[in-house]
Amino acid sequence: MKNNKFVNKIICADTLEFLPQIEENSIDVVLTDPPYFLDKLDNNWDYEEVSNQNNQYTIKSLPAGMKFDRAQGKRFYTWYLDISREIFRILKPGGFFFSFSSPRLYHRMASAIDDAGFEIRDAFMWLYTQNQAKAMGVDHFIKKMNIDEKAREKIKEKLNGWKTPQIKSCFEPIAMAQKPTDQTYLNNMLKHEVGMFNTNVKIGDNMYPANVFTIDSINELVDRAFLLPKPTKKEKGEYNDHKTVKPLAICEYLIKLSAFSKNAVIFDPFMGSGTTAVAAKKLGKNFIGIDANEKYVKISERRLKELDGKSDLFIKTVNQQKYIRSNLQVQLQMA
Ligand SMILES: C[S@@+](CC[C@H](N)C(=O)[O-])C[C@H]1O[C@@H](n2cnc3c(N)ncnc32)[C@H](O)[C@@H]1O
Repeated sequence: MKNNKFVNKIICADTLEFLPQIEENSIDVVLTDPPYFLDKLDNNWDYEEVSNQNNQYTIKSLPAGMKFDRAQGKRFYTWYLDISREIFRILKPGGFFFSFSSPRLYHRMASAIDDAGFEIRDAFMWLYTQNQAKAMGVDHFIKKMNIDEKAREKIKEKLNGWKTPQIKSCFEPIAMAQKPTDQTYLNNMLKHEVGMFNTNVKIGDNMYPANVFTIDSINELVDRAFLLPKPTKKEKGEYNDHKTVKPLAICEYLIKLSAFSKNAVIFDPFMGSGTTAVAAKKLGKNFIGIDANEKYVKISERRLKELDGKSDLFIKTVNQQKYIRSNLQVQLQMA
């Protein structure tokens, strides 16, 4: 099989450039958390730049993630349409594609997946209670208004408590798409070993699987229906400085729901620090992962090695010249 050399490997490459090397109709599940196209977290994601970004604040006076740039959504759509078309090609008939996103640009991502030929079957929701509030007050601008002090105070009083429209963001939407099945679900399962969900998987207090989940204990009712195990302190690795590591329990839940075959291959085209691969390996499934940043690939390699001591995991195929060229092309297309 053409894929054999990539199975259970993390590949350092630009995803769009690398995808044609993967065999068609060969992947059981794609589970990924792509760049959300907010600020610097896009398809040009640079390790140094992202690591030095002062965590939340500020990009030219607006909190990171909140600079409104209409073109970003369009760039995301164009790029993700190309990615999704390739994912469509490599997934088995009936294969599932889970893709995380942000509430702001979910619509662009889901449209790209849809336009690539997938059936959007559901939107999953990762619910949480804690996040940095990003709304800004306008006192600072009122202070600069060329009016007398009394009028300034009046405006301040009038707008007391009113801020820019960014309340605490407390969920992440995840598109759940499916490549059309080969005839019926039953036929597809028997022939390709993928295409249905495992309802023996439980969530919360031994409940039927749901499209909402949380890893924070919220209250009895919510926990009973939607709670997944909390991340352990060591699951991510102390050395792991990736900014957007996903909880292992979420990846495990989605893989358990969707991967039927013993030999299932779970593919993550934006592997980051390797959470999807760690989850797949823990569940006895195969994986293939790609990330353009070598530092993250090395973190994935280390996390995976901690599971079984094996280290033959890293293939480097990145061609920086080509990578830069392909990104330039995307930018030119958008101009
Ligand atoms: C949101 S992160 C994934 C984090 C991951 N879920 C984890 O738990 O660590 C997205 C990843 O996509 C990678 N990336 C961005 N553009 C890429 C590209 N064009 N090709 C391959 N990887 C890319 C970034 O380096 C980043 O690590």
